[in-house]
Amino acid sequence: MQNKIIVAGIGPGNPDYITPAALKKIFAAKFLVGGRRALEEFSTPNQITCPITRDLDAPINFIRENILRGEVVVMVSGDPGYYSMLDLLRKNFPPEKIEVIPSISAMQLAFAKLALSWHDATLLSFHGRQPARVALEFSDGKILGLLTDAEFNSATISELLMNCGWDKNSSVTICARLSYPDEKIFTTTLADAAQNLPVKHCILIVR
Ligand SMILES: C[S@@+](CC[C@H](N)C(=O)[O-])C[C@H]1O[C@@H](n2cnc3c(N)ncnc32)[C@H](O)[C@@H]1O
Repeated sequence: MQNKIIVAGIGPGNPDYITPAALKKIFAAKFLVGGRRALEEFSTPNQITCPITRDLDAPINFIRENILRGEVVVMVSGDPGYYSMLDLLRKNFPPEKIEVIPSISAMQLAFAKLALSWHDATLLSFHGRQPARVALEFSDGKILGLLTDAEFNSATISELLMNCGWDKNSSVTICARLSYPDEKIFTTTLADAAQNLPVKHCILIVR
């Protein structure tokens, strides 16, 4: 297997945030894998494509079938090293055959929007998983950056944090649809967010 699997981060959504390095690989690809939105945005008619859906065997089989015929570029949202398909690819293919093109994570953009450094923040994911309770517990000066999903959303997570010692008046910034024209960023309290309509698939910054 001489050809590489290129895992290209495409940033938080808006094409303004994709790197030229990723774009170059994506446009040069003969075989292109990605979410339906990304394929609509970036694929060209001459490319052979495979959508990423719930059936994760499909892209793995597509790569196996085509890698001997050329490079396969896999587009993932945000940064590939931060909760993406990269782990699954490493389980199925030798790491030395995988090349990663990093990008801007939605988490980075959320902190940037608040003009807030993230080097001291505790970054955790509720996307299809639940962090250990000890990581969520309140301590003085702690800043949490949280990925969410449909079940663990702005309301359920706010409730959970109040049960982990966070004051009901702690600030939570809800960052939804980052980088898109309908981006929505607002700050409220945990008590308020727990009572209000849940915002799903967003980033929460709690402090
Ligand atoms: C599987 S994780 C992918 C993270 C991605 N690899 C990254 O670096 O941004 C998906 C979660 O990232 C967050 N996310 C991704 N894009 C987002 C955006 N444009 N605005 C807000 N949150 C986003 C949401 O919490 C979503 O449920």
